[in-house]
Amino acid sequence: MKLSTLLFGLVAGALSALPLTAVAQQPIVIKFSHVVALDTPKGLAAEFFAKRANELTKGKAKVEVYANSTLYKDKEEMEALQLGAVQMLAPSLAKFGPLGVKEFELFDLPYIFDNTAELHKVTQGPVGQMLLKKLEPKGIVGLAFWDNGFKSFSANTPIKMPADLKGKKIRIQSSKVLEEEIRALSALPQVMAFSEVYQALQTGVVDGAENPISNLYTQKMYEVQKHLALTEHGYLGYAVIVNKKFWEGLPADVRGQLEAAMKEATAYANKIAKEQNDKDLEALKKTGKTQVHTPTAEERAAFKKALAPVHVKMESRIGKDLLQAVYKETGFDPSKF
Ligand code: LMR
Repeated sequence: MKLSTLLFGLVAGALSALPLTAVAQQPIVIKFSHVVALDTPKGLAAEFFAKRANELTKGKAKVEVYANSTLYKDKEEMEALQLGAVQMLAPSLAKFGPLGVKEFELFDLPYIFDNTAELHKVTQGPVGQMLLKKLEPKGIVGLAFWDNGFKSFSANTPIKMPADLKGKKIRIQSSKVLEEEIRALSALPQVMAFSEVYQALQTGVVDGAENPISNLYTQKMYEVQKHLALTEHGYLGYAVIVNKKFWEGLPADVRGQLEAAMKEATAYANKIAKEQNDKDLEALKKTGKTQVHTPTAEERAAFKKALAPVHVKMESRIGKDLLQAVYKETGFDPSKF
């Protein structure tokens, strides 16, 4: 991170910690930093939230959205939030492990959700609420879960069976479950910030990646990946989080209005996520640069079989009781996996 960016952030953070009465005439600025493009499910939902927050608070709060890692990259943004240099983020659920909240990695388990309806039973239900509460000792309040979609593998060589990924270096997010997933395919996991993936694929630092289509398309990874297999082997979504001290220091009426804006933004995010991914898949196909393969039933079964051991291996990391609670909500039966 550039020193000037950090200093700027810290000064902004210190100002935002001033008693709110001292700056009563000024709008309360909420810096919302994220790492994806504007025209992604998260990018669009962040803009939606900013607009509604401004409207519902009648200008008392001003949400400034910084997209595409322009303010902070993955790891830095978590630190910036805890320092108060930014107030709001929506990191993917795979990025909470390094904070010490490894339970969030349950979302990275292969094939744990068959569809979004199953997923929403968890994210929009009591298990989701319980997970968000786990952030509070870290100085963070979890406000909502936003969808992106299901991830698929890409590389420069065709991917049909798990063996096609053997020995390949695959970029992953900072999750131990994802690390185990890649190892289960006899491939080599490489943790890397999202902003660095395109270049790493281009220069051959990594051979492939796993992304929902919206991220692959909007980062133009199709320019540097010749093959995509629609494996949809795992989920990628977000927790919208705020600095706890900042949030609790807000005037109650403003906080309530922001909660209402977040509720609307969450409904919007989860409505457009699939539409956006479907649209990007069509656009991706039109580029003609990446060949898209839809796995046959046999190929899909082979991936499921290869990835099944990840659930067992990661059970103690995530917590047996939590996993059972999730399996109960979704009807997932690991013995039939
Ligand atoms: C990734 O790093 O691949 C994703 O978490 C990026 C994002 O925020 O969707």
